[in-house]
Amino acid sequence: MDERTWAGKTAVVTGASAGIGRAVALTLARGGAAVVVSARRAERLEGLAAEIRAAGGRAKAVAADAGEAAEMERLLAEALAWEEGGRRLDIVVANAGRGLAGGILGSDEAQWRELYQTNVLGTASLLRRAGQHLARQGSGDIVVLGSVAGRNISPFSGFYGSSKFAVSGLAEALRQELCATGVRVSLVMPGIVVSEFQQVAGYTPENFGKGVARFGRLLEPQEVADGVAWLLSLPPHVNVSELMIRPTGQNYP
Ligand SMILES: NC(=O)c1ccc[n+]([C@@H]2O[C@H](COP(=O)([O-])OP(=O)(O)OC[C@H]3O[C@@H](n4cnc5c(N)ncnc54)[C@H](OP(=O)(O)O)[C@@H]3O)[C@@H](O)[C@H]2O)c1
Repeated sequence: MDERTWAGKTAVVTGASAGIGRAVALTLARGGAAVVVSARRAERLEGLAAEIRAAGGRAKAVAADAGEAAEMERLLAEALAWEEGGRRLDIVVANAGRGLAGGILGSDEAQWRELYQTNVLGTASLLRRAGQHLARQGSGDIVVLGSVAGRNISPFSGFYGSSKFAVSGLAEALRQELCATGVRVSLVMPGIVVSEFQQVAGYTPENFGKGVARFGRLLEPQEVADGVAWLLSLPPHVNVSELMIRPTGQNYP
């Protein structure tokens, strides 16, 4: 990967104010992409955009709630209207999401609706709009952040895992709908990545730390971003439709 890998391309990354999304945005920018970064925390986004520009890259911050369809519509419209005459949209990374400790019995039911609104419905709204646009364009990439917990239910977070099962289904449905148009859809399923995710989810040494202690060294966001960069750098006729990245010592999920 060098500054020519995505030169002339525009990428939108949701959940870019922290963790995996931030690492993906910086990686795409280093590879020459103009990057539209989105999340709710506007100050964080402006800081990231400034960091990308200071390194010679191009970036625009759009604060938006990824759980709201209208906000995702506005995000894509702002990305397309970024420069006079309108830019192409080449890469959309649907990454915004959150976790929740506990299963069906133990998780905080008061957070269920918001979790599904963000992880499932908001993701679906972004995928629908991005898919419609890229299909008209006849090319492009959509990368969806699922989880190993969206393939094997996790002993730490069964309710969250159910939302990621839905995300896995959305990604595969979209891949089938779009493949004939030349648009690639990839589902990236990380194992445990050290980020703000654990705090937001309400993980504690008791409900999480003890269980993962035996996994050894956990993943950093950049290691997932490297996987995303790899699949986005392949020739357009090669679609890595699923990529699972675990810490080597993680046996389950
Ligand atoms: N960390 C892990 O172990 C792990 C494993 C597998 C999959 N994943 C998935 O990877 C993705 C990124 O996770 P991460 O580890 O990078 O977590 P993180 O460090 O907590 O970052 C989450 C990002 O999503 C944004 N976000 C959350 N809710 C949002 C909303 N309603 N609207 C807009 N943005 C929202 C946050 O920004 P604001 O708060 O500023 O809005 C933040 O930028 C998530 O989909 C997560 O489910 C994580």
